[in-house]
Amino acid sequence: MNVLTVIGARPQFIKACMLSRALKSYPEVNEIIVHTGQHYDASMSDVFFEQLKLPKPDYYLGIGSGTHALQTGKMLMELEKIMTAVNPDMVVVYGDTNSTLAGSLAASKLHTPIAHIESGLRSFNRKMPEEINRVVTDHLSDWLFCPSRSAAENLKREGMEKQVFVTGDIMYDAVRHFKSFAGQQSTILQELSLSENNYYLATIHRAENTDDPNRLKAILEGLMQLKKRTVLPSHPRTKRKIDEFKLNDIIDTSHIKMVEPLSYFDTLTIASNANVILTDSGGLQKEAYMLQVPCITLRDETEWMETVKTGWNRLAGANKEQIADKVMTCHTPEESPPIFGDGNAAQQIAGILINGDAEN
Ligand code: UD1
Repeated sequence: MNVLTVIGARPQFIKACMLSRALKSYPEVNEIIVHTGQHYDASMSDVFFEQLKLPKPDYYLGIGSGTHALQTGKMLMELEKIMTAVNPDMVVVYGDTNSTLAGSLAASKLHTPIAHIESGLRSFNRKMPEEINRVVTDHLSDWLFCPSRSAAENLKREGMEKQVFVTGDIMYDAVRHFKSFAGQQSTILQELSLSENNYYLATIHRAENTDDPNRLKAILEGLMQLKKRTVLPSHPRTKRKIDEFKLNDIIDTSHIKMVEPLSYFDTLTIASNANVILTDSGGLQKEAYMLQVPCITLRDETEWMETVKTGWNRLAGANKEQIADKVMTCHTPEESPPIFGDGNAAQQIAGILINGDAEN
């Protein structure tokens, strides 16, 4: 059985690694990995393959950056060629990136069944490219694997009830699998002279924040007001936009420490030892919950409402007063119910895809 996996961006490497491992226990499965090249810097791509021991991609498309149409269109053209040559029994796509959209569109036109992992998430904000990618991918998919019950409810509201499986979150599998090993391997705390629970971790990469000078400025000003030092691993685009909007003057480097994008092991280590995490990333909001670190989300809405309802995550938007206030009043809730399942999502997904074993 040929399973064709399409990946291209950082969080997809992490998710795919876990399913890839689970698929290995099925000798009849031949997984073919296509890397679109949406993320191409060594720190955004290669280091994840090395640490996660992800098999080398069978195809590397080298698409790189561009406008949404350009990037997605180029991917579509290349994926169609590969899918036609390989004739897979199914195509697996992850999350909500342009690589996800291209993978599902190409497969659907070739009548190849599609499995969407991390299905059913909604921000209800169609201005986000990710929201468009998710909605389209969900409606094209044949298996919809939801990380949480609320994701399945979103699908139900849009008329999708069949082949919807709540498996828990595959990123939780990865956190459980790699956390202690990452802690042993990573030297990031020493490298950055950080002591446990005595710094904040921030990440900013969403277009809505990086491409709007007012929002980016307000977030940086918010971080400057915080009592402890903030480590800011910077996505290449964020760095470029800070330069373009001439926002470097806001940053006092003794207070905000900008560093290169971090590897998965360094991220897990620096995140689990942070006092508070401030982020606009979907993945890091979840990882904060999984690692039991309070999170402030630098967006006006989130797809991960369970983390908000349990008190672990609070929305501050791009408002400097809110950012400072939310961090100051931050507390650690007593309970963290298993909103992302039991850490066995990959096994369940593989069982359903290969044998049709469904528990729900
Ligand atoms: C993408 C996803 C986002 C996901 C994120 C994970 C879409 C629409 N967005 O956002 O949902 O949360 O990945 O990290 O697919 N760049 C580099 N080197 C790289 C990659 C990107 O310099 O290796 C720069 C380029 O200038 C590029 C910009 O970052 O134009 C944006 O990259 P892109 O892949 O388009 O989107 P992300 O912001 O990374």
